Amino acid sequence: MKVAVIGGGKIGEAVASRLVSSDFVDFVTVTRRTVGKAQLKGKKVKVTDDNESAATASDVIILSVKPGDAHTVLRQIGHVVEGKLVISLMAAITARNIERALPGARVVRAMPNIAALVGEAITAYSEGSTATRHDIATVESLLSTFGETIHVTEQMMDAVTALSGSGPAYIALLIESMVSAGLKVGLPRDTAFQLATKTLTGTAGLLRDRMMHPAELRDAVTTPAGTTIAGIYELEKGSVRTAMMNAVEAATLAARKISKEFEEKG
Ligand SMILES: NC(=O)c1ccc[n+]([C@@H]2O[C@H](COP(=O)([O-])OP(=O)(O)OC[C@H]3O[C@@H](n4cnc5c(N)ncnc54)[C@H](OP(=O)(O)O)[C@@H]3O)[C@@H](O)[C@H]2O)c1
Repeated sequence: MKVAVIGGGKIGEAVASRLVSSDFVDFVTVTRRTVGKAQLKGKKVKVTDDNESAATASDVIILSVKPGDAHTVLRQIGHVVEGKLVISLMAAITARNIERALPGARVVRAMPNIAALVGEAITAYSEGSTATRHDIATVESLLSTFGETIHVTEQMMDAVTALSGSGPAYIALLIESMVSAGLKVGLPRDTAFQLATKTLTGTAGLLRDRMMHPAELRDAVTTPAGTTIAGIYELEKGSVRTAMMNAVEAATLAARKISKEFEEKG
């Protein structure tokens, strides 16, 4: 299978690098305007600035430009994607709007995150009006090359974008805060970094593998008048929970605004 990744930026390159190493994919054409900035090299990959030729030469087209560049790209490839599968990784742009711009293409929206770079993404996807069962199987295989997949309805996509698409930035901020906290209580920076990152992945692994509710885990490690409750008390005072809920809600609203702006530009 030949795949075009239109927009080889942060997420496009991450995705393309995993596709290139999968047996499932024969060739990947990555496009961007400034070809010289591309990092990807190899026998199974080509980088070009020609979106139309890339789409023509491929069976599956992955769109990973910023929503603001979508109109241009959709116009360039609109007449060469009839009968092809198009997977849009773009935030906020609905399948219906993509289908309108790409008549005859079968569209699936997918929202990965930057952990795709290390094959640890979670990618939510939802199909447009004409995608077939076979397309969904193809999409699952392609998305699985860079992590786990989950099917959602399209109405959930803006919320997904806000939670797991933007999520790595929130987690990075959390880890950064824990490293600063470690420094404040006298730990060397790399020790604090190792402790914070492994605590995060270990806790996530424990909750997932044991199917444990987070509150159950928190209770289990919080002893009366102990160290953990002293820390938890300060986190609750700082409204960490509310801040996270507000952050995800604000990001969801931002996605909806981008979607509206795209429709208004027509
Ligand atoms: N970053 C994430 O974590 C993430 C996660 C999930 C989904 N997404 C979605 O993925 C999309 C890209 O995000 P990003 O963070 O990867 O942005 P980015 O790093 O800015 O990448 C966008 C790429 O598109 C290229 N581009 C722009 N106009 C183009 C055109 N006309 N033809 C071909 N290439 C063009 C740009 O390269 P040149 O400037 O060289 O043209 C750039 O490399 C967005 O829609 C975003 O919502 C991102």
